[in-house]
Amino acid sequence: MKAEGNCPGLAVIIVGSDPASQVYVRNKCKDCTEIGIYSEEYALPEETSQEELCALVQKLNEDKKISGILVQLPLPKHLDEKAVINTINPKKDVDAFHPANVGKIMIGDYDFLPCTPAGVMELIKEAHVEVSGKKCVVVGRSNIVGKPQAMLLLHSNGTVTICHSKTKNLADECRSADILVAAVGKTKMITADMVKPGAVVIDVGMNHDENGKLCGDVDFEHVKDIASAITPVPGGVGPMTRAILMKNTVKAAIINK
Ligand code: GUN
Repeated sequence: MKAEGNCPGLAVIIVGSDPASQVYVRNKCKDCTEIGIYSEEYALPEETSQEELCALVQKLNEDKKISGILVQLPLPKHLDEKAVINTINPKKDVDAFHPANVGKIMIGDYDFLPCTPAGVMELIKEAHVEVSGKKCVVVGRSNIVGKPQAMLLLHSNGTVTICHSKTKNLADECRSADILVAAVGKTKMITADMVKPGAVVIDVGMNHDENGKLCGDVDFEHVKDIASAITPVPGGVGPMTRAILMKNTVKAAIINK
């Protein structure tokens, strides 16, 4: 693509100094360098205004070197996340967060899939786990993971249940799952008694335990002996999210050529 003058380029914007977000953004730019994708990182101060942020996004929408734009979430409280995402050109929206892309995913006619849910599907595929006809339970209903994850499992003909904080009998729902995806953000909330023997368990959580160690939503040590397959944290879904972002950026360069 470089030889054809169409080098993929990713712009990553971070506002403020959330330490976890800073690590994610640094890793995204590192991945770009490693595989030959051009990248620009914009680290904006906490007090950046809505107008300044949207003006930067608009400038990047017009920039021929930039095929993909990613605004790291969450944004500081005074900024309107929805309005910022709406400003991104949908053809450069490598997170697939713009409502136009969310709608396209719903009807199965999309350019980009959201990075984490698509990474989970890739893990399932590579592990030769059949989704069709299986009972899939997604715990968590965020716009970034839970909701699109449920949609992708549905596209693969899974029978999908979404659980959340108001779900009655969460343990029973989880125990009914052949494929269990945990995306809540609560350390060790999925315990061994909530997992059906032989189930496939995918942990999207990124939490810190009482010792400050990175851990997921699943009590890995106890669940690993019950599940037929399980993803660890770190080293499970996280690297897949990063890989799909690279894939989306290459696709964006092809689309925007
Ligand atoms: N914050 C947590 N996950 C993500 C992600 O996938 N993309 C962006 N832009 N922000 C995030």
